[in-house]
Amino acid sequence: ASIDWSEAAAGKGGYDHYMLKEIFEQPEAIRNAIRGRIDKDRGTAILSGLGLSPRELVDFQRLLIVGCGTSLNAGLVGEYAVESFAAMLAEVEQAAEFRYRNPIVGSKDLVIAISQSGETADTLAAVREAIDKGALVAGLVNVVGSTIAREAGRGIYLHAGPEISVASTKAFTCQVSVLLLVALKLARGRRMSRDEGVKITREILGIPALVQQVLEKNDAIAKIANNFIKCEHMFYIGRGYMYPVALEGALKMKEISYIHAEAYNAAELKHGPIALLDGNMPVVALMNRGPGQEKTVGNVEECRARKAPVLGVITEGDEEAKVACDWTIEVPDCPHYIATIVCTVALQLFSYHVARLRGCSIDQPRNLAKSVTVE
Ligand code: G6P
Repeated sequence: ASIDWSEAAAGKGGYDHYMLKEIFEQPEAIRNAIRGRIDKDRGTAILSGLGLSPRELVDFQRLLIVGCGTSLNAGLVGEYAVESFAAMLAEVEQAAEFRYRNPIVGSKDLVIAISQSGETADTLAAVREAIDKGALVAGLVNVVGSTIAREAGRGIYLHAGPEISVASTKAFTCQVSVLLLVALKLARGRRMSRDEGVKITREILGIPALVQQVLEKNDAIAKIANNFIKCEHMFYIGRGYMYPVALEGALKMKEISYIHAEAYNAAELKHGPIALLDGNMPVVALMNRGPGQEKTVGNVEECRARKAPVLGVITEGDEEAKVACDWTIEVPDCPHYIATIVCTVALQLFSYHVARLRGCSIDQPRNLAKSVTVE
C-alpha cells in the first residue's frame, strides 16, 4: 500500500477519519482531563478553577447543568452522579429550553454550562441568563479562551485536545470524567466518607485503561456493524446511568449514518414505542451488569418476542445476558457510572462502522456544524 502524505491524512494520524482518530485518542484525552485533579490520599477532586470555598460547596442547594447535543447527554450523567454521590439536588436542562421557560435559578444555585466549543449560542444565552439571575456559573469547556469560558469567568477546561470531527466523541468521555470529579468534590464536602472517596478516585484513575480495552474490540465491532447497514430505524434502550448512554449512542448513529435512531429509557418502551417493534426494528440494549440489569434483560426478551433483532452491550463473560441477544459487544466489568464512558466508546465505534459501511461523509455529516452559533 502506498502512503498518503497529504496534509489532511497527516492530520488524521493515519486514520481514515478524524472521528476514528479522536475515538482512539480517548485514553490519552481522559488522562489529560483528570491529570492533576485527583487527590488520592484525601479521596477527593482538586478543581481550583471553580474557585469555590469549602463553605460555598456545602451551601449550594442545587446543581443545574445546561448544554446542547452531546454536551447535554454528558450533563445527564453528571446529574445522576451528583445525586448519587452527593445526595444533592441536581438537574440538567437543554440550554435553549432553560431560557424559554421561566428559569427558576438564583444565588443558591451552582450552574455548570457544558460546551466543547464554548461558542454554542443557546448555551451562551443560558449562561448570561443564569448570571443575570444571580447564580454562580462555571464553564466546562474544551476550547480555551472561547466565549463561554470567558463569560462564565470560572470553570474547568477539559484538556481533551482539538476535536475536528463534527460528531463529538472524546469531548463527551472527558466531560463525563470531569463531571464525576465534580460529583466527588461536592460529595466529599457533604456526606461522603474519605474511604468511599478514595475508592472512587481509584475507579476514575482506571478509566483510560478500561477505554483501551474497548478500543481493542474495534475489529469485532466492525464485523457486527455489517448487520445494520440496511436499517432505516433503530431503538436504543437503557435504564439509570445507561439511559444517557442510550441517548448518546442514538445521537451518534443519527448524526453520522442518517439512520433514524431513537433512545428510550428501557422502562418507557412498554408505554408506546413497543408498538413499533418487529423484525425490521433492531434494538441496541445497554444490559451490562449493574442496577436494573435484570429488568433490561426482561425488556430485551419482550423485544425478541416481537422478532426485533437485539445487539446487547454486556459485561464480559455474562452468559445469561449473551443468550438473550442476537449479537453482543462485551465490555469490562466496572461500576455503572464508569460504564457510561466504557459503553459509549463501544457505541461510538459501532456507529462509526455502520456509517463507514454505508459510505457516509463521517467527519462532515450533512446539515451539521461543529458549533452552532445561532439561536
Ligand atoms: C452541535 C454539534 C454537536 C454538539 C453540539 C453542542 O450541534 O454538531 O456535536 O454536541 O453542537 O456543542 P458544544 O460545542 O456546545 O459542546
